[in-house]
Amino acid sequence: MTDTLHLDKRQRAMLAEMGVRVWSPMSEAAVIDAPAGEIEQPHSFVAASDLAKAEPVPTIIQRPEGIDQMGWSALQSTVSSCQACTLCGARHNTVFGVGALAAEGEAPQVDWLIVGEAPGEEEDLQGEPFVGQAGELLDNMLGAMSLSRTGARKPEGGGVYIANVLKCRPPGNRNPKPEEVAQCLPYLERQVALLKPKMILAMGRFAVQALLRDSVPELEGTPYGKLRGRVYQYQNVPVVVTYHPAYVLRNLPEKAKVWADLCLAMAHLKGSE
Ligand code: URA
Repeated sequence: MTDTLHLDKRQRAMLAEMGVRVWSPMSEAAVIDAPAGEIEQPHSFVAASDLAKAEPVPTIIQRPEGIDQMGWSALQSTVSSCQACTLCGARHNTVFGVGALAAEGEAPQVDWLIVGEAPGEEEDLQGEPFVGQAGELLDNMLGAMSLSRTGARKPEGGGVYIANVLKCRPPGNRNPKPEEVAQCLPYLERQVALLKPKMILAMGRFAVQALLRDSVPELEGTPYGKLRGRVYQYQNVPVVVTYHPAYVLRNLPEKAKVWADLCLAMAHLKGSE
């Protein structure tokens, strides 16, 4: 392909890594200036004139040891300074999670943990998960269960925490890469251990893969929809699989199936009390 943008090798490598397609105002055609196959789910275009603003390639620093022993605030501050994968280079904020208020330094007391995929643009800017359109739908779903994202656990139950598999935004909202999930997963594992929820709702393929890949051997070959309707386990916590709110926004008739999944989770929780 003709290099109409005069990108140097480093810029090309970085853009390919970010899954960014480069559009040149010099030509009417879109120019994809990254090796085919390296772009997983390109949504974003940058003008050649923006390249000067491209972030430098970040320095990768190994995660500290002992995440599995950390308390809530140590975990939070470790995540906020994490540089264990290249996503740290372009982020505005890490997105640790949101939920019921808790005593200083303590994990919130919750019955429910909602696990999504990764922050999007708005979440990256605000440092909070699910604040865009998908978040609005998630809030409505929680409302339908008489729950809310920051509501405290009452004597009769409740309390929600919302977290993602990845704590940093993949550029252009591309899919998480396996190495990014591998670096980030110990944080979610520790969040689950400290939160001790009574039910996990896994929303979308990446959440399901992250939580169930060690315990559900048939996961890889099973179409996503076929994983619904059963209760799995992660760290001895029941897990119910449902569709990601962003998917539901594009496929509104699936809302009924999500409601069925939420009913399954509520019934299981009630039955286990
Ligand atoms: N989608 C997710 O999976 N998580 C968010 O925080 C926002 C959108």
